[in-house]
Amino acid sequence: MTQALQTILARHQFNPTRLLQILREAQEALTWIAPEYIDTLAAGLGLPRARVEGVAGFYRFLHTDAPCRYRLLFSDNITDRMLGNQDLLTTLCEMLWVERGHISEDGLASVDTTSCTGMCDQGPALLVNGWAIPRLSRERLARIAELILAQAPVETWPRELFAVADNLRRADILLGNPLQPGDALRVALPLGRATLLEEIKHSNLRGRGGAGFATGLKWAACRDAAGDHANARRYVVCNADEGEPGTFKDRVLLSTQADLVFEGMTVCAYAINGSQGFLYLRGEYRYLLAPLNGVLARRREAGLLGRDILGHAGFDFDIEIHLGAGAYVCGEESALIESLEGKRGIPRNRPPYPVSHGYLQCPTTLNNVETFCAAALVAAKGADWYRGIGTVKSAGTKVLSVSGDCARPGIYEYPFGVTVRQVLADCGAENTLAVQISGPSGVCIAADEFDRRIAFEDLATAGAFMVFDRSRDMFEVARNFAHFFAHESCGFCTPCRVGTAMLRSTMDKIAAGHGTLYDLAEIEKLDRVLNQSAHCGLGHTACNPTLDTMKRFRPTYERRLKSLDFEPAFDLDGALAAARRMTGRDDTGAHLSTEIEA
Ligand SMILES: Cc1cc2nc3c(=O)[nH]c(=O)nc-3n(C[C@H](O)[C@H](O)[C@H](O)COP(=O)(O)O)c2cc1C
Ligand code: SF4
Repeated sequence: MTQALQTILARHQFNPTRLLQILREAQEALTWIAPEYIDTLAAGLGLPRARVEGVAGFYRFLHTDAPCRYRLLFSDNITDRMLGNQDLLTTLCEMLWVERGHISEDGLASVDTTSCTGMCDQGPALLVNGWAIPRLSRERLARIAELILAQAPVETWPRELFAVADNLRRADILLGNPLQPGDALRVALPLGRATLLEEIKHSNLRGRGGAGFATGLKWAACRDAAGDHANARRYVVCNADEGEPGTFKDRVLLSTQADLVFEGMTVCAYAINGSQGFLYLRGEYRYLLAPLNGVLARRREAGLLGRDILGHAGFDFDIEIHLGAGAYVCGEESALIESLEGKRGIPRNRPPYPVSHGYLQCPTTLNNVETFCAAALVAAKGADWYRGIGTVKSAGTKVLSVSGDCARPGIYEYPFGVTVRQVLADCGAENTLAVQISGPSGVCIAADEFDRRIAFEDLATAGAFMVFDRSRDMFEVARNFAHFFAHESCGFCTPCRVGTAMLRSTMDKIAAGHGTLYDLAEIEKLDRVLNQSAHCGLGHTACNPTLDTMKRFRPTYERRLKSLDFEPAFDLDGALAAARRMTGRDDTGAHLSTEIEA
């Protein structure tokens, strides 16, 4: 055991910023993170034990509870639920003789749920020891159970079980690009840094990770920032955390366009004078790690990474891949940087922003996977060409992850400005009741809004497009999202930690038929509190799906309420019943009458 840990520590040069990677690899080798491993790692890295333990306890995919040979986590997004994941989970528990959420007594297996695993176009899905298995059915579960009971190592399971389809349905300039590795760099490097940056600015490219910040401005701010140290290094970080439920387009970009992603990062490094890049890959996409490392190796051989890239003296840049470990909040840029530094993924106070104080307090440019792909296209083909596509305010294309009630779920790339109605027609959706755009933190729209457009000036989106037909109950959709936010709140700030838990319990209370109009008003109040006082975007957006569905599908809430009167959530008179029984009194004076309350 100690030898295995020492080998892992040595591979990471005993560097504390690699703590998350070290813990992940330790778990892969030893099945869990035992208390004595934490001692060894703390000593080897020169860190307080509490720091190592704190990090190990933060991430969903790191296990400190007990050894377990096969850990199975069912994806629990609403689309998995629509495809019957709950019944399948129960079936697997029965096949393995385990209780949901517990490790079997012999330490063989545990079965539980996790947030969306990014396989919504081919759900239901699960992870076994971190490896994704999509398209679950009873037959596939029977095979999985057989392999587990035979104690076959996961590496020997049939490859076909782990095959993830790209489901590429519509390609445009990005997914259909004819570029070869190095094409964009061969145009960008002769331009020089300043002209390249002007091109990116002029292209009107905006970030695809959700906030839509102008990419050229971000890069320029990073190039001009001094950071905390004299001669601070500059870093380029690609956000491939893709944790928003219903979003899986970065998965497909990474599996089909990895060269374009890395090319975009390298173009960025040239523009900002960066020397090191990181791709932060969500843990659920563990299966992409080896192929992506293969692409990086090929690029090094081709002179597209490393020293003097493409013979350009002094342009040295390389890229490393870090794997996340199951924490949605790590998609938030400052939390991601904390995680890259080997810490818990807790969002930082901002300002200062990552462009000046990012990785190791040095200037850092962080962009979404799709943004880097688009930047490579701009570098190769020019800003004017790029801004000629899409709308005046939204240049280029948007890659959508389409899932839910439609005949052809998958990846669709459109020029900005496409209507929701067009996307619904293309994916074969019928009798559509609602579409959730940009995941739970985005917006829910009803049928009378289907002529709205996907564009920054109308429906801005990070890419999720979840379709719900008329057989669906939008209250249950919102309730699933409320559970998601409560589960993923990192707990750092009280308004979000308590607020998301209150939202979840209020939705559960309404579902159980105990809600009143008072609870609906409380949710609105909660939204105001979270917006004003939560520390990051997770808290700010947590009430969005509930408020959107309450506004557009009010009857689905009202028919669950036990009363349409404005009754307080707590029944004080009912709570005094025990006292009345004890004193033997049940006369009018022993009750809280309406007059007295008033
Ligand atoms: C809770 C939370 C989760 C996020 N998750 C992601 C993510 O998975 N991928 C992403 O690119 N951006 C995500 N973002 C947005 C990032 O903070 C950041 O704005 C983005 O990566 C910047 O890249 P861009 O300018 O290319 O859009 C998230 C933000 C929040 C608040
Ligand atoms: S808002 Fe929520 S997720 Fe964000 S820092 Fe606060 S507790 Fe963490």
